[in-house]
Amino acid sequence: MAAAIFAGIALFFSFQGSSVPLSSSEDRLVDSLLTLMTVEEKIGQMTLFTTDWEATGPTIREGYREDIRQGRCGALFNSHTAAFTRELQRLAVEESRLKIPLLFGYDVIHGYKTIFPIPLAEAASWDLEAIERSARVAATEAAAAGLHWTFAPMVDLTRDPRWGRVMEGAGEDTWWACRVAEARVRGFQGKGLGHTDAVAACVKHYAAYGAPTAGREYGTVDMSERFFREYYLPPYAAAVRAGAATVMTAFNDYDGVPATGNRYLLTDVLRRELGFTGFVVTDYTAINELVPHGVARNEQEAGELALHAGVDMDMQGAVFQQYLKASLEAGRVSMAQIDTAVRRILKLKYRLGLFEDPYKFCDPEREKRLILSAEHRAAARDMARKSIVLLKNEGQVLPLSRTARLAVIGPLADNKDELIGSWSAAGSGSDCVSLLEGLRATSRGVLGHAKGCELEGNDRRGFAEAIALAKKADVVVVAVGEAAYMSGEAASRTQLSLPGEQEALVEALAATGRPLVVVLMNGRPLAIPNVVERAAAVVEAWWLGTEAGNALADVLFGDYNPSGKLPMTFPRSVGQVPIFYNEKNTGRPFDPNSKWTSKYLDAPNSPLFPFGFGLSYTSFEYSLPTTSALTFRAGDTLRVSAQVRNTGDRAGTEVVQLYVRDQVGSVTRPVRELKGIQRIHLQPGESRTVTFTLTETDLRFYRRDMSFGSEPGAFDLWICSHSAHGQPVRVELQ
Ligand code: NOJ
Repeated sequence: MAAAIFAGIALFFSFQGSSVPLSSSEDRLVDSLLTLMTVEEKIGQMTLFTTDWEATGPTIREGYREDIRQGRCGALFNSHTAAFTRELQRLAVEESRLKIPLLFGYDVIHGYKTIFPIPLAEAASWDLEAIERSARVAATEAAAAGLHWTFAPMVDLTRDPRWGRVMEGAGEDTWWACRVAEARVRGFQGKGLGHTDAVAACVKHYAAYGAPTAGREYGTVDMSERFFREYYLPPYAAAVRAGAATVMTAFNDYDGVPATGNRYLLTDVLRRELGFTGFVVTDYTAINELVPHGVARNEQEAGELALHAGVDMDMQGAVFQQYLKASLEAGRVSMAQIDTAVRRILKLKYRLGLFEDPYKFCDPEREKRLILSAEHRAAARDMARKSIVLLKNEGQVLPLSRTARLAVIGPLADNKDELIGSWSAAGSGSDCVSLLEGLRATSRGVLGHAKGCELEGNDRRGFAEAIALAKKADVVVVAVGEAAYMSGEAASRTQLSLPGEQEALVEALAATGRPLVVVLMNGRPLAIPNVVERAAAVVEAWWLGTEAGNALADVLFGDYNPSGKLPMTFPRSVGQVPIFYNEKNTGRPFDPNSKWTSKYLDAPNSPLFPFGFGLSYTSFEYSLPTTSALTFRAGDTLRVSAQVRNTGDRAGTEVVQLYVRDQVGSVTRPVRELKGIQRIHLQPGESRTVTFTLTETDLRFYRRDMSFGSEPGAFDLWICSHSAHGQPVRVELQ
């Protein structure tokens, strides 16, 4: 195949048969291709266009087909299925002059067709193996559908639940966001690019996209460099270190310079400091947007700015395609810059094995066998159970007895379409198990279902039926939350309450006196103190994906004991936002008896639920932590231990957390910082000593002079159940 297609450069196919290429043959092929390419063909490799998906199937604009034939477009996104990608690949490798294969990308964020929980939910599992497995399944299905490249993981740190994209990240903590970023990259890229179950990862959105002012999408990001380096940069760095093949620029500006035209971010930090060697793609039309940002007078200038900054590929904006040649001729960009970008892109195509066999990912048999397979659905169910967070369980109303008479109520109780959440790739609600279906499959006690109200609007006409049903039941299960479109891109909200009449529905059901189990389905932390107060039990189910209903039934009936914990703080009200656990102490820390301390007049400082919080059907008791020494130095390993005991009557998994506080520094330090977690499984009555190790390197930060290092002095250490729990032990770093 390759020899036929690349007859003109057959010399460079001496590596045939190897999926682990030697860099010399890679370099030889790429360099040789560069010598054969026209400027237009080079710019074509730097151009990424989208295809469309109609009800009838995938479509592509005729102009783009011609662009492929003419070598003016080297990559496509939103094109998937083995058949459609084969059809498009054929245009490139059989009808274009140099027959360079296309690269196919897609937003495979939490599954391709077997949809897993949204990333924020997965982060609540604190289970890196399961998170890696989720990305592995996503990659396996995507690669079987002809895809080479996923626009994931999104590793933007997020502290503001008004921002809709909190659903795509790992929450508010930097240490945890780094671990999750690494796990996802490992999962997507598997045993290595070139395997037909691996896709290239794309770390996004570089950089600091998760901190828009007031949580408003695409908004300005302004933060100190110290803050950026300490909290926001590390997850991108972790993903790069884990081997992510590509990086996507962010839409926002950072310190006054839009990320897509920001040489400091894209070259000084990403390439020079972090050592990134893959290619950089922009976000959707982000080069064009340098004009409305006000840093370029026109699109041609925007393209020059982006290339100088370090962008290699232009997503959808066609700025490079339209203007880069003119900029080259005018001497405002150089051929060397263009060659550098093209070389990086061709290398990825080479590593994926596309020069060897451009159709290797287009295999309908593999696609049919793998997608939505029983094994993948089982993995999705496992991940979904692990992602559920039990927030309240008064009077042990949960787990439900299989003989209890249940009223199943709420706009999300029998809904399938919303379960896959935002960014659900090729997922379909029709493949999902609804909550009602899951409950019915597990128990004969379901009396019936009533919607009560819609997700939005102010129609209460369904309340009467819902109340009548509730009155007949022993327990009322009510599923409420957000519509999937309310989180994800361009989905910022100023309210964090339940939309429409849902809170009123919960109140009306609570008034029946029946115990109320509230199942929340949402993409962000919600501020719902009234709902929590009225409910006997609250189960945070996020958007759990294809197996949502089965996973929820497993948890509600106690076949699975919940162990998830919140990766983001839940506020009491929007007014507390941004609220996060690792705040600074201030010079006037909160004192309930003193007005002149850092607090609100009309609300407590404490959140509705703290970071790291989550209950189980059993209970755990922690001893005070102990350390292997009271003082330690650089080079020493300090062991910190605590006894954790299962004091209930069920086996359960506990996510044990280690936090530190640096008491005095050359700059102010957070009141607590997460430094490690361990998931332990304990039988009833069982105790385990949980030991973490800490070294001086774990205590480093950006000091007053911006050097990265630790400072001697006192540190408090907690081993505890969540960020507002436990008693510390003090140690001294000498
Ligand atoms: C815009 C989004 O910001 C980005 O995350 C996504 O990958 C691209 N669109 C492509 O769909």
